[in-house]
Amino acid sequence: MRTWHTEVIIIGSGLAGLLAALELSSVRKVTLVTKSLLGAGNSIKAQGGIAAALTRADSIDQHLKDTLQAGHYFNDKEAAVSILEKAPEVMHKLFALGIPFDKNRKGEYDLAQEGAHSERRIYHAGGDSTGAHIIEKLKEHIADRVEVVEAFTVYDLVMDEGQCKGIIGKDKKGQTSMITAQSTIVASGGCGQVYDITSNAEESTGDGLAMAYRAGAKLMDMEFMQFHPTMLVSNDKQACLLSEAIRGEGGRLVDEKDQPIMERRHPLGDLAPRSITARVVWEYIKSGRKVFLSIKHVDNFHKRFPTIAAHVQGERGILMNDRIPVHPGAHFLMGGISVNKWGETNIENLYAIGEVACTGLHGANRLASNSLLEASASALMLSQCIKAKAIHNNWKLPEAPMIFQEEKDLPDLAELKVKMSQWAGIIKTKKDLLKMRSWLTRFHSECRGPLSLSLTKEALAARNCLDTAWMIVNAALVREESRGAHIRTDYPEESQYWSDSTVCWEGSMRIEESRTTKRGEPNEYVFT
Ligand code: SIN
Repeated sequence: MRTWHTEVIIIGSGLAGLLAALELSSVRKVTLVTKSLLGAGNSIKAQGGIAAALTRADSIDQHLKDTLQAGHYFNDKEAAVSILEKAPEVMHKLFALGIPFDKNRKGEYDLAQEGAHSERRIYHAGGDSTGAHIIEKLKEHIADRVEVVEAFTVYDLVMDEGQCKGIIGKDKKGQTSMITAQSTIVASGGCGQVYDITSNAEESTGDGLAMAYRAGAKLMDMEFMQFHPTMLVSNDKQACLLSEAIRGEGGRLVDEKDQPIMERRHPLGDLAPRSITARVVWEYIKSGRKVFLSIKHVDNFHKRFPTIAAHVQGERGILMNDRIPVHPGAHFLMGGISVNKWGETNIENLYAIGEVACTGLHGANRLASNSLLEASASALMLSQCIKAKAIHNNWKLPEAPMIFQEEKDLPDLAELKVKMSQWAGIIKTKKDLLKMRSWLTRFHSECRGPLSLSLTKEALAARNCLDTAWMIVNAALVREESRGAHIRTDYPEESQYWSDSTVCWEGSMRIEESRTTKRGEPNEYVFT
């Protein structure tokens, strides 16, 4: 086994990972590993933009109100305040890095509107390619400052004496490698690939969630998976997101007869919170009807949304009468590895940022475009925290006490994804969730410690999806209520008990009955 040591390991090269790498590179030796190419993943696909309340007409307080309302007040309010308050610093950092956010003819930032925002506060770049612009710029900035290891497959975290001491995996030649460090940051993104229809990149197989689970880290709120209402699904089931910002510019959801479908369902109509819109679209489709996104009233559609327009044009014959057929799909996990505002987990020297982490910002349903803000703010706060910690010169290397787990049979990933959509999708019931759990039980084993390194990359992805699906399904089963994106038709109302209770994982599942004390008091880190 090849072993090497660094000061900070970052797993993942989306917005959170790259920004943390950049921030920390001035004071630490940073090694960033990514399972495919640098920058690949969900951030680069982000269309809508980044939400930030910076204008005079807007306020952090109003942004907070919108976030809490969309999140069904299940958010961690303190965490939400600390992230939303960071918006000015985040945006000035991104402006200074040279990200070309779009401006109007007057030279002001051209702010977009998305569902459940009471103000136009979404900064976007290249019309609908905000993520791509941000990632490209960050890649330029980290070049020569950060050690980047592409095509590195992380199998598991290295645990020693209750601490995280690094990662074990395989490099692109298939050589087993252990990388050790005083700080390990999981920034590996979400898990949309647990479902067959998803906006997520193919890399999003829940790797960080699953390895944290196997290491015994605390995860929470795994039952809260957000489905995006508008995706264009091609025949091969690859989905292209049709940004909510299209509805912010006048796009309308209509039925086959061109009748609007949202007006009677919510006072905000087409800009209702995402969980509501996705449910309405899904119910239409389930009843055998079709739903379309009408772009008739969107000015300059091709100019404002060039990436989407090019995709739609590529799907010949799809755009008829200015209408695009839509289908909901898995989009964003509100839960994840439980962290405090600094990105610290319950395991010493293990940190998490970005979608893989659960800060508590999103509650039961994320407000659109809050995720890029969360990823950036969390990267800045975590960097501040790590910079303030002393480097241990006498840090003890782990002794490689590896116990490689033998695997049961693993599921066929394509089958797992179809079944998850069928039995644990937008609308859930006990009956379906039990079917899903029983199917997963055939393959799932609770395991602590590193997986067998004889697993192929494909088998590892299946194992990570299996562990992630296991947490989603079991948590959804015990939460006997409906709240935000967690919709149970057998328990259609919010329950008082569950408003304060959290489904947590620390190896196995348990329920914490006091949500407010879930992460303890965070320390204060002051960087001097
Ligand atoms: C979108 O552009 O509709 C997605 C934005 C988001 O999910 O935050």
